[in-house]
Amino acid sequence: MSYAGNALVILFGVLMLHSGFAQNEPSIESTDHMILPMGYHSPPITLQCNLTASQSKHQESFWMKNGEEIPDTRGNDKNTEYKLNKPRPEDSGEYMCVYTFDSAPAANATIEVKATPDITGHKRSENKNEGEKAVLYCKSMGYPYPMWSWRKLDNGVSMEIDNASGRFFISSKDGYTELSIINLDINSDPGEYECNATNIIGSNSMPSVLRVRSRLAPLWPLLGVLAEIIILVLIIVIYEKRKKPDDVPDDDEPAGPMKTNSTNNHKDKNLRQRNTN
Ligand SMILES: *[C@@H]1O[C@H](CO)[C@@H](O)[C@H](O)[C@H]1NC(C)=O
Ligand SMILES: *[C@@H]1O[C@H](CO)[C@@H](O)[C@H](O)[C@H]1NC(C)=O
Ligand SMILES: *[C@@H]1O[C@H](CO)[C@@H](O)[C@H](O)[C@H]1NC(C)=O
Ligand SMILES: *[C@@H]1O[C@H](CO)[C@@H](O)[C@H](O)[C@H]1NC(C)=O
Repeated sequence: MSYAGNALVILFGVLMLHSGFAQNEPSIESTDHMILPMGYHSPPITLQCNLTASQSKHQESFWMKNGEEIPDTRGNDKNTEYKLNKPRPEDSGEYMCVYTFDSAPAANATIEVKATPDITGHKRSENKNEGEKAVLYCKSMGYPYPMWSWRKLDNGVSMEIDNASGRFFISSKDGYTELSIINLDINSDPGEYECNATNIIGSNSMPSVLRVRSRLAPLWPLLGVLAEIIILVLIIVIYEKRKKPDDVPDDDEPAGPMKTNSTNNHKDKNLRQRNTN
């Protein structure tokens, strides 16, 4: 063996040692990803993390959900767990255990808890006048966020929304979707619409009823009163006209045919005013 050969072996060993150190990051064993069962009475679920190896002494551990620390989960043990006593769809999410160390960056492990989207809020019905704008919405719980779609129910049969008129707009973000229909059409728009939330675990949908009233509908009572007033005025005018021949114009101005007419009009106006007051 030459000196050069020895030197090479030593150099190789040192390199190995270094790369060994560099790769020797803390190792965490954690519960597998899981799917939350449907329904609200599923058995408790326990998420676990065990710190099985670390170079530096660990300080403490805590749990996070969807990027936020879960309060009161800090502890000093190498094995830590987080319990979901009554797992509900809103408990689905991205859970993470985090270990902090004296002289090393924090380490973590992620446990995904997935669930079928659960539609927790929606507009049951919307009542609008024709020409107005209707807005329907749905909210969901469940990780991962769903893909949203809207369909129309025609006698219980789900159909594509016909957007030939370009009046339907859908905007969805994360656990929320909104269907807006502008310039409501009293013939084609009323009915049942359905939002559908679908993720890789499953899907759910929820119906909303849209009612569209005639634009004149709110005016009917007013129109009724107006009609009554007009009829009353007509009756009075006709009655007065019948009495007219007995009337002698008491104006001091000369009574021409035109003048008489205008005086009559004047009287009518006064009558009308008295009636509406
Ligand atoms: C963590 O350690 C505990 C106790 O040794 C063991 O029962 C559990 O199965 C471990 N969990 C995981 C996810 O390895
Ligand atoms: C979790 O660890 C990864 C690297 O392993 C790091 O990039 C990330 O910032 C850590 N997240 C948290 C919340 O500590
Ligand atoms: C309906 O048509 C309008 C106008 O073409 C368009 O902007 C809108 O995105 C369409 N809506 C849907 C739900 O496809
Ligand atoms: C939601 O839409 C998806 C894709 O079109 C469909 O497969 C699923 O059956 C629908 N779910 C419900 C509950 O209607």
